[in-house]
Amino acid sequence: MGWVRSLTVIALTFGAASVEAFKEQEFKKCADSGFCERLRGKQGDSYSADPKSIQLNGAVVTAKVQHDASGAAYDLQLTNYNGILRMHIDEAASKHRFQVPWVLQSELPDSSQAWTKTRQSSSLLQLQSGSAQLTLTFKPLRVDLSIAGTPAASFNARQMFQYEYLREKQEGDPAGWWEETFKGHTDSKPKGPQAISLDLSFPGFQHVYGIPEHAASFALKPTTGEGIESEPYRLYNLDVFEYNLDSTFGLYGSIPLMLAHKAGLTTAAFWLNAAEMLVDVASDNSGTQTQWVAEAGVLDLFFLLGPDPATVLQQYGRISGTTAMPQMFSLGYHQCRWNYKDETDVLGVNAGFDQHDIPYDVIWLDIEYLDDKKYFTWDKNYFPTPIDMQDKLAVTGRKLVVIIDPHIKRKSDYYVFSEGESGSYFTKNKDGKDYEGWCWPGSSSWVDCLNPASRDWWAGLFSLSRFQGSTKNLYIWNDMNEPSVFNGPEVTMPKDNIHHGGVEHREMHNINGALFHAATWQGLEERGRDSYGSDGDRPFILTRSAFAGTQRLGALWTGDNKAEWPALKFSVPMCLSLSIAGLPFVGADIAGFFGNPDAELFTRWYQLGAFYPFFRGHAHLEAKRREPWLYDGTTTDRVREAIRMRYALLPYVYTLFRLAHTHNQPLMRPLWYEFPDEAETFSMDDQFLLGPSILVAPVTEAGASSREVYLPTSTRWYNFHSGTAMKPASTGGLLRSQESPKNSIKVDMDSIPIFLRGGSIVPRQERARRSSLQMQGDPFTLIVALNDSAAASGALYLDDGHSFAYKRGVYTERALTYADSVLSNAAAGIASTLLPSLDVSVPLPAGAKGLKSDAVVERIVVLGLPGGPAGWKATVQGSSQFLQAGPGPLRLKQGLPESGLIIRKPGLPIAAEWSIRLSKSS
Ligand code: GLC
Repeated sequence: MGWVRSLTVIALTFGAASVEAFKEQEFKKCADSGFCERLRGKQGDSYSADPKSIQLNGAVVTAKVQHDASGAAYDLQLTNYNGILRMHIDEAASKHRFQVPWVLQSELPDSSQAWTKTRQSSSLLQLQSGSAQLTLTFKPLRVDLSIAGTPAASFNARQMFQYEYLREKQEGDPAGWWEETFKGHTDSKPKGPQAISLDLSFPGFQHVYGIPEHAASFALKPTTGEGIESEPYRLYNLDVFEYNLDSTFGLYGSIPLMLAHKAGLTTAAFWLNAAEMLVDVASDNSGTQTQWVAEAGVLDLFFLLGPDPATVLQQYGRISGTTAMPQMFSLGYHQCRWNYKDETDVLGVNAGFDQHDIPYDVIWLDIEYLDDKKYFTWDKNYFPTPIDMQDKLAVTGRKLVVIIDPHIKRKSDYYVFSEGESGSYFTKNKDGKDYEGWCWPGSSSWVDCLNPASRDWWAGLFSLSRFQGSTKNLYIWNDMNEPSVFNGPEVTMPKDNIHHGGVEHREMHNINGALFHAATWQGLEERGRDSYGSDGDRPFILTRSAFAGTQRLGALWTGDNKAEWPALKFSVPMCLSLSIAGLPFVGADIAGFFGNPDAELFTRWYQLGAFYPFFRGHAHLEAKRREPWLYDGTTTDRVREAIRMRYALLPYVYTLFRLAHTHNQPLMRPLWYEFPDEAETFSMDDQFLLGPSILVAPVTEAGASSREVYLPTSTRWYNFHSGTAMKPASTGGLLRSQESPKNSIKVDMDSIPIFLRGGSIVPRQERARRSSLQMQGDPFTLIVALNDSAAASGALYLDDGHSFAYKRGVYTERALTYADSVLSNAAAGIASTLLPSLDVSVPLPAGAKGLKSDAVVERIVVLGLPGGPAGWKATVQGSSQFLQAGPGPLRLKQGLPESGLIIRKPGLPIAAEWSIRLSKSS
């Protein structure tokens, strides 16, 4: 254990108060950082754009800007990317400031949309593009944006803009400009002050969201204003041991994307800058005002003009890329702990899942599998035959994930270290030597992933020939990549460390973890091509640290949470914030990393966790063993039920990931994402939607016997467990008759409240299997939940579940619709039914034949038929034969009401065109 962690463990023994005190001191507050002290809450200097310098060239406007007091010169560029406005300000001439690489997508430079100049005077320039209008005011410099006449965002309305220019050190410069010390760590700050402050106002918006990662409420609480005393939201990737909840503390990842939402308009701002950043939020009757301060870098701001949530997310996907299509196995359940001891333990746990009939897909090894904490090795005493072990897992359809961190043990006979040292692949200290710090292995050096040569070298280490003991059944977990350095300032790397190209760590800190993740991704991608041929194998890599663009690489978990009820509750806003910031493959450690959950908390966490996009159980080294069968039998039954529920929903979850991949749509969604005009939902974060169709209301309090659930009023809802419509009208019909959208729902320990949205069709695979692999080819059940017009739609995406063959068209997309008493299955892009407002269909590549599938539909359940489920006949169109149909329960489970019309064994292929007509028997 590193000394920080040991100290914390010692502190723990003195009670919670000392833990809090210890942690608080370990990390900086605004007052401890020179740049924050200088700029937070401060009026900036005057800056102006020179009207004579303005040039309009198609989609690009350029202008010279100056700092009026000093005459320091800057270049301003405003580029129209059709729904996205990029505002770039850099110091003019030869001043070298860091421009973040890797994040921007190649599509972005192809801006096509020319601005139309609507007005120019000596004081302003007005431009139009579609429904967006931009006003550039020259002095003081200011930008206002409106969409269809509604003000959307303003830059520098409060004149907090300040761009500290790079300068020579001079006698009498204020203290702290060229050096500062925190907790005995001195930051040499060779470039002096170089921070940027800006203010963004969102007129008329009372709610803003995003800028993860914080353990905070989803709608961002104000940090300044009357009577409010708070630190700003900190974006600085840190390993915060036992992090506090309801806090603006910076955690492991940073995505500088903020969304603003109100009825009728959603908009967003993204600042591409990887330095430490602090964001203040203030709110009054006129709207929300924010101030953003970054310690270094350039001003590279993107306004995403919306106008609705789905479009904003799609615009963000155009900038930073969309979610990698995950392998099907990675959407199943993952079993982890620190640590499974040895091969017998691993195989025993694997067998335990089978003995207890609980499906799972992946077992994980934490740092103790290693020889002396040297990555790419195995502890020969406990893992003498890792290949055999992986092969045995593979026989049962399971994968292995092992942890590989970025700190490399400094030991001359360790090949990874000696190669890293001789290749100069490590991050340097301020004196240009390999940086040495302390982490799990003791004295370590860190791979410098800003260096393309380091990334290539790192990637090569994953090939099957180099990574001894690995097989193609093994995937990776990248942890501690903030990076965590036990003896570094704030448990991370000194800001004056030097990366490739002379870049200071200060300038790139927040993207450090993502670049490491990217190098690992490259390694698994190359390995996949070597071992599976040209269609390859989709990498799976879990990361703890993230930046904009991480979605292109895989999954993230929310780090070291506690096995306590409040942590369960905060996992929802944390995952929502990440999801809405374009990183949808997220989840929290179930059932809390530190501590020992009792049976109730354990159960509730699985019941919620089954709806996290990333679904993994994990526990600290000192936590008691907690495989699901180690609790009492009833608890095991309930956890099994929750996990099976997830497996039954895999076709739906996989389809949602396809939509994340093609259209950058999140899986976990706040209610306002789907019901953007229902103002009651704007600050709600104790319930959420998984995709458009499933509403989840977790139980996050001990001993709960009921909970309030808000069901949006514009549609009807069905109980997901029983299939019964909510509040059927007293006339006996199934129409919604909610007087209030708030419903007090009784809960017991068997499940949490979940609802199916009227108007949706959800595909499921209901046969209980050992893992997702065995479900391939299994028959489907279609749940058709009718809306008030007796209609419904849904979608299904299918491919081979593991390779990149989908890129050459080996997949099928099905549109499932029910209208005018006919249920039909047709080939059509999934967006046509799941996201009709943005139906940018993704055509099959030329000549592609699509996916062949022998799977059939074995059951159809229609909920909400006018007059109830009795007395209907079903025929396949084009045939005169009746299908077996009659009232029955939603699921094949004892004691459920006959809530739907069940069509049994229609036997129709899932990947073919067909339709079924329902008619009333006479
Ligand atoms: C970090 C991770 C945790 C892991 C531990 C040991 O604390 O966040 O998940 O178990 O390191 O590797």
